[in-house]
Amino acid sequence: MIIKKAKNYQDMSRKAANIISAQIIMKPDCVLGLATGSTPIGIYRQLIDWYNKEDVDFSRVTSINLDEYRGLSPENDQSYRYFMNTNLFDHVNIDKSRTFVPDGLEPDAQKACDDYNRIIAQSGGIDLQLLGLGHNGHIGFNEPSDVFIKETHCVDLTERTIEANKRFFASEADVPRQAYTMGIGNIMQAKKILVVVSGADKASILKEVVSGPITPAVPASILQLHSDVTIVADEAALGALEI
Ligand code: F6R
Repeated sequence: MIIKKAKNYQDMSRKAANIISAQIIMKPDCVLGLATGSTPIGIYRQLIDWYNKEDVDFSRVTSINLDEYRGLSPENDQSYRYFMNTNLFDHVNIDKSRTFVPDGLEPDAQKACDDYNRIIAQSGGIDLQLLGLGHNGHIGFNEPSDVFIKETHCVDLTERTIEANKRFFASEADVPRQAYTMGIGNIMQAKKILVVVSGADKASILKEVVSGPITPAVPASILQLHSDVTIVADEAALGALEI
């Protein structure tokens, strides 16, 4: 694992956006695995800025998002499809027909997951997977568990995740209790992985991920076994590590 230290959130965002834009410049028809949440917002802003300056061109890029709440429509402003449209896709020249997010409205969970695994396989594989890190070590919505689940699956969100995500909803009761998420195997098959982490509240989990035992109780710990992982974290998030 390569760990890059950033001064603060803005610096983390710019350093991570640099890695993503380098990927697009080196391979214009690349497949990007993308994430939602608070952490990548600054990265997407930076990429939009560089797109406006004609420094990065999304016209041949395919994107595959990690996850989506089960039951939310693309028009619901809390859905991850809505998040991606408003935070990135609507502002750059990506072909929306090549942007993929699990179908939150597919009631048949097995079908939703099979369809998504097929999309990932047919894309030819993810070149660069962007990941945020949950306070409990989750990546995508792969929550702490006894086993690593390989492929896209329907997951019951933990109380900790519901609590963390309620800030985006009118009330905790509105937070969906389930989501469709890529599995750990889907993530580990990406050629390169870029993890972004910001804030002192992530310091102890980042330490566990990087130097603790590899266990499904800390899903992101499996990243220790991937051969090409870059973590871009700000000083606050690196506070528990001696770097
Ligand atoms: C988002 C996702 C989640 C988040 C994680 C961190 O698509 O899959 O794993 O990356 O919950 O979220 P933030 O960045 O809001 O702290």
